Amino acid sequence: MSTLNFPSTFHWGVATSAYQIEGAANEGGRGPSIWDTYSHTPGKVLNGDTGDVACDHYHRLEEDLNLIQSLGVDSYRFSIAWPRVQPLGYGAWNPEGLAFYDRLVDGLLARGIAPHITLYHWDLPQGLQDRGGWESRETALHFAEYARVMGERLGDRAASICTHNEPWCTAVLGNELGRFAPGIQDQKVMLRVAHHLLLSHGLALQAMRGAGVKAPLGIVLNQSPATPATDSAADKALAAKEYAMFVRWYMDPLFKKAYPEGADLPVCDVVQAGDMDTIAQPMDFLGINYYTRIWSSAATPPVPAPNAHGVSDMGWENYAQGLRDLLVQIHTDYTLPPIFITENGFASPDAVVDGTVADPRRIDYMRTHLQALLDAMAAGVNVQGFFYWSLMDNFEWDSGYDKRFGLFYVDYATQVRTAKDSAHWYRALIAQHRAA
Ligand code: FCB
Repeated sequence: MSTLNFPSTFHWGVATSAYQIEGAANEGGRGPSIWDTYSHTPGKVLNGDTGDVACDHYHRLEEDLNLIQSLGVDSYRFSIAWPRVQPLGYGAWNPEGLAFYDRLVDGLLARGIAPHITLYHWDLPQGLQDRGGWESRETALHFAEYARVMGERLGDRAASICTHNEPWCTAVLGNELGRFAPGIQDQKVMLRVAHHLLLSHGLALQAMRGAGVKAPLGIVLNQSPATPATDSAADKALAAKEYAMFVRWYMDPLFKKAYPEGADLPVCDVVQAGDMDTIAQPMDFLGINYYTRIWSSAATPPVPAPNAHGVSDMGWENYAQGLRDLLVQIHTDYTLPPIFITENGFASPDAVVDGTVADPRRIDYMRTHLQALLDAMAAGVNVQGFFYWSLMDNFEWDSGYDKRFGLFYVDYATQVRTAKDSAHWYRALIAQHRAA
């Protein structure tokens, strides 16, 4: 029996994204995405891994729906691959791709599981990147049209629709640091991209609401508190700047119609009259993804993070208290809609031994983070659900198949899924709450 005690109305879920699990990259009329291009470029992804096959989810939909159901969750968060439904990102729609997501949504509903849809989890159609990608304002207009069509198609059955997953990652990892697709290294491009992502979010909400979409609408942001490594003025200033670039750069426009002071901003012509009003559309929910905190050290070499609770296989510090601190901070700084934790999870080098996977460190991570979530709720933060990242091991972007976040272990040679101990633990936790 766990001592974690959530309200009976709390939603329990698991999350995935299209490129990370679907595979079938060249099937069913799907067009190429920037992640196909990027992962097929030598040297970009560890071991040369690609999402061509991934978890073969496209062909194993029924099996995977049963897997989700076996956990007892009431909610599932997944993303639509834009190039699967609209191969170029503009122009013709692909009926086979649209039919796949119809089957997914209907399969969830038939199992009593609420579909939570993400429209953009990083797999921009290559056809749009060829026209400038998110650096171009045109892409925001195409995104709004894509959102409208998907909203009209699935909005009657979706429990929620979110526009973007982690726009910071798209902007910074993809267009400033070049670690993710499309692999651009240019801060000026990053700032244009970030603004167009926010603009596209606002335009998409307007388009979906204009079309009468009834599903709750929102966005998913990755957030962390920033801790100065020491009391020095330099470390405090760095922490403030990093928090501004990571959290406030997205939150202030969405909830205060302005970019934060002290942050790097796009140059003159990028932010046009009316953009800030467009971005700040009312939202029905806010999704927060939390993994670790930012440790801000201005010294050379930097003061290392304490890591008292260990680090994950990603090298990320386990810092559950950061989830509570972050939520309390944003609850204080903004007037927020209901919050869902749309991702939280732990990577470990798991292995199947005699048909089981012992992953006690993942269970510990989940338990401590759920406790931190309860602490935030006790402090007044309105959190309505939790999605573990991820349902199963999958393509972890530039780390390829090397990092395993799943509740189910995936043997990529056979595509056999094996429940880890954490899957049994999560199932029991949910069952305990259902019984209460
Ligand atoms: C998040 C991503 C998700 C997954 C986890 C580990 O940043 O949204 O796709 O890769 O990290």
